[in-house]
Amino acid sequence: MQSNGYQSGFGNEFATEAVPGALPQGQNSPQKVAHGLYAEHLSGTAFTAPRGQNRRSWLYRIRPAVMHGRFAAYKSATGDAFHNEFEEGPVPPDQLRWNPLPPPEAQGVDFVDGLYTMAGNGSAAAQHGIGIHLYAANASMRGRFFYDADGELLIVPQQGRLHIATEFGVLDVEPQEIAVIPRGIRFRVELPDGASRGYVCENFGALLRLPDLGPIGSNGLANPRDFLTPNAAYEDEEGEFELIAKFQGHLWRAPINHSPLDVVAWHGNYAPYKYDLRRFNTIGSISYDHPDPSIFTVLTSPSDTHGTANIDFVIFPPRWLVMQHTFRPPWFHRNIASEFMGLVHGAYDAKAEGFVPGGASLHNSMSGHGPDAETFDKASNADLSKPHVITDTMAFMFETRAVIRPTRQALEAAHRQRDYQDCWTGLRKHFSPPA
Ligand SMILES: [Fe+2]
Repeated sequence: MQSNGYQSGFGNEFATEAVPGALPQGQNSPQKVAHGLYAEHLSGTAFTAPRGQNRRSWLYRIRPAVMHGRFAAYKSATGDAFHNEFEEGPVPPDQLRWNPLPPPEAQGVDFVDGLYTMAGNGSAAAQHGIGIHLYAANASMRGRFFYDADGELLIVPQQGRLHIATEFGVLDVEPQEIAVIPRGIRFRVELPDGASRGYVCENFGALLRLPDLGPIGSNGLANPRDFLTPNAAYEDEEGEFELIAKFQGHLWRAPINHSPLDVVAWHGNYAPYKYDLRRFNTIGSISYDHPDPSIFTVLTSPSDTHGTANIDFVIFPPRWLVMQHTFRPPWFHRNIASEFMGLVHGAYDAKAEGFVPGGASLHNSMSGHGPDAETFDKASNADLSKPHVITDTMAFMFETRAVIRPTRQALEAAHRQRDYQDCWTGLRKHFSPPA
């Protein structure tokens, strides 16, 4: 499927047709849709959700989504590493860090089979919490399609571009861009660069949205016009294909005799989108100290408690540091929130080494963390009369209100850095009270 380009905006009432005249005018479900298409409704929020948060789309397609064979349990070729089993066993309060997920040993591992669950909280059944996954793949999906009924997927590619053909059109994303595929939308991932890897946040809670800006005003952070939603593009193909579904934490497979990416036209505000993180309008202190990292929030999924997110997607992009009389890197801290971090590009300013692109760290609720000894010494003696520009970096954080529970496979993984805490052992005692 070739891209037909994009429409700009966040949560807009989009309208697009790949064949002229396919979109009905003046109503959603005419007795007969133009060109012999079927009309189908897809809701992403409760019918009665407030208007400002209500998300639904109308699809005009060659065949309705109901047409496929029976589902049976799916076993992946890579050992069922993609799941939501993070609610078992005690969670160590240790600071945790991992090297990148090793590339798959076998050939032919696609995006779905390459998913590996690191951690999570809540559940699809309860409709709150998140799953945190990595992927490492070396093959495009061929003759198969995937959808996740449990959560929307925030995909953060770290190595290799992704060509994501969806029911709604095509998203081409590269590292330092993100893609969001809402619940239920069917798609196929191709790898134009071959071996690829990245991060995925599976959001079981309320749909990701732009954060309120409060006193910042009407501009800044991620600007709505930089979010891109695909124009309609469709496939009219028949064959022996398969549809993989993730439903209530498990994968299922059904035969399907046609491409489900057969939506010729659609309109509505429930649709996939992409965003280039390099477009983020970064805001920070121009006097002293620095604000909480919430100032770097790209997207947020609110919880039922006002001001307390189910998940905040936060980035640490290139930026100027100009604050005076200030320890400029992230300070030592403990938070009630829990933080899973990844690095897409370059280096992160709070760690001299060990936190590498493709790697990850987890600092859970009330577990102390902060700069390593080398970074602390450097920043404590930096010349603050000059501004400092951080370049070549793109770190991110999935921050949640609930403790992030690492999976058994993540705790036992060979690529876990079991000596992570040693990065703080060099912090010396400097206390020297007056005599
Ligand atoms: Fe932190």
